[in-house]
Formats: sequence, C-alpha cells, structure tokens
Amino acid sequence: MCQCERLGTEEQVKEFYDVLSKYKGNKDNIMVVLQTTQNIFGYIPEKSVKIIAENLEMPESEIYGIISFYSQFTLTPKAKYNIDICLGTACFVLGAQDVLNKILSKLNVRVGEMTQDGKWIVTSCRCLGCCGLAPAMTINGEVYGKLKVEDIDRILDNFAD
Ligand code: FES
Repeated sequence: MCQCERLGTEEQVKEFYDVLSKYKGNKDNIMVVLQTTQNIFGYIPEKSVKIIAENLEMPESEIYGIISFYSQFTLTPKAKYNIDICLGTACFVLGAQDVLNKILSKLNVRVGEMTQDGKWIVTSCRCLGCCGLAPAMTINGEVYGKLKVEDIDRILDNFAD
C-alpha cells in the first residue's frame, strides 16, 4: 500500500502535496502547512508529520512540539457527528443519564470514545445553556431537547453515514 492510501482520499492527498510543494524547504511556513493539513484531513495524521518534516526540512520532534503547544491542532481524527449530552442538574434530574446510557449502548462506545466507523463521538457537559429544554443534547451544535430514551433511535437513525 502506498503512503497516500493511508493518509486520506486521493483528493485530500493531492491537496496536501500541492501545499507541500509550495512551501518545500522552507520551515518558516510550518504554521500555515499545519493549518492547511488540518483543514484538509480534519486533523493532523501522524503519517503527515513525517512527510511535512521531510519536505520542510525540519525535525519531526519540532513539529510535534508545535502541534502540542497550539490547542488548535489535533492529532486525533474527529468523528463526523459529535453528540454532546448535558449532565447538568436540570438535565440530570429529568433523566439525562438514562438518555446517555441509551446512546452509549446503541453506539457501543463509552463517553469520549469514537465509534469504529468514525461516525460518532459522545461527550458530556455541565450545561448547554438551554435548561428549559432539559434533558438536552447537541449533535454538531444543533440542540435536541426534552429528550426521552425512546426518542434516541429515531434521532440518531436520521443521520446519514
Ligand atoms: S443543565 Fe442541561 S442545559 Fe442546562
């Protein structure tokens, strides 16, 4: 398998190498290269770090140092859909934990874990600022309120692969 296949789609890889060829041999452009890499793949694949290091002629360790210093960069792939469920007081007393348990068992994950297909990640928070809709959650920022356990299948099944 060639390196490109493991990095991302053909289009993503082409775009990535186009950026690298623009900045080849010039480590002063590391920030823009990292930002563009993350825009292309949604995160910075570890494999891309090696390729960036070779092309910009700088040590991989220096690149990892920059990635860990700036919170905008992530080495972890993001799921397509992020469910953020509120476990704050108003939501909790109205059954948020049962809703969360239903989501976790349906997706077969734990809080903070991504499904194997990269489709879902479930996180929890202390208040979404819409306590009147308790129990509430967001999916990619869109609020779903007054949740009941029996709503979950219908809500999640509406999201495309
Ligand atoms: S406590 Fe859940 S939205 Fe505020």
